[in-house]
Amino acid sequence: MKAVIPAAGLGTRFLPATKSTPKEMLPVVDKPAIQYVVEEAVRAGIDDILIITGRGKQSIEDYFDISYELESVLKERNDFEKLEEMREISDMADIHYIRQKKPLGLGHAILCAKKHVDGDNFAVLLGDDIIFSEKPCIGQLIEKFDELNSSVIGVGEVPAEWVEKYGIVDCRAVDTRLCEIEGIVEKPSMDEAPSNLAVMGRYVFTPDIFECIDETGIGKGGEIQLTDAIKILTERQKVYAYRFEGRRFDLGDKTDWLKTNVEAALNREEFRDEMIKFMKEKISRE
Ligand code: G1P
Repeated sequence: MKAVIPAAGLGTRFLPATKSTPKEMLPVVDKPAIQYVVEEAVRAGIDDILIITGRGKQSIEDYFDISYELESVLKERNDFEKLEEMREISDMADIHYIRQKKPLGLGHAILCAKKHVDGDNFAVLLGDDIIFSEKPCIGQLIEKFDELNSSVIGVGEVPAEWVEKYGIVDCRAVDTRLCEIEGIVEKPSMDEAPSNLAVMGRYVFTPDIFECIDETGIGKGGEIQLTDAIKILTERQKVYAYRFEGRRFDLGDKTDWLKTNVEAALNREEFRDEMIKFMKEKISRE
């Protein structure tokens, strides 16, 4: 299965850092955010990834490319460990790029992948959602997709006051984790929200979604919304929502980005003890 990673957004929520750096390239500990997303896809067995970029996103392409200058310096220094690490990044997967020429929204960004996806089922991982889990989140959704032979969307509960930041589903429970989507709305107000089950930036689609995007008009925020296309899809075939296992962070949000760094650092043996010590000391001083 191919994966599509939309990474064309302007990142205005993270200014000034994103003035000249794509938000997907902001570091989480020592890796750019988008690497965590690519790694999640690779861990799920995906080896063909299409990144939808836009203006000012050149550094994403450079990052996943071979850097001959850097490699020759590392070779000269006999730093084979670093060299190996750099090669792993460029060898991780077969990564393709396409530019979304106009910022017309997430739905439109996905539509840019139509030719590359070429009539197959495909996965979508949003570039600003990072999910830490034992089993890669997109792998959990692919498993469900294979079982149900229908599109599956990763969801999670959010506090009522956050519903207006997400796509929110209206669902009929199948089991404790799975439900069939009966309605979906992009960024509803608290009063309009059908539930507090939010779309968390991971999707596995049948290629029929493209036709639905084609038919989707301008939605919330004057953009072509993927959520509106999913609504059309639910009127034609079953679409499921799955409460995946894992902790999800929104990199577009500054507080969440700080938390992502803490979580990622605590997941790493080399930083863990020092970080806990630092945080304990800091809290006791506050
Ligand atoms: C997008 C989607 C939204 C989803 C969210 C998850 O919104 O449109 O449905 O819940 O990602 O992160 P954005 O965060 O790009 O505004």
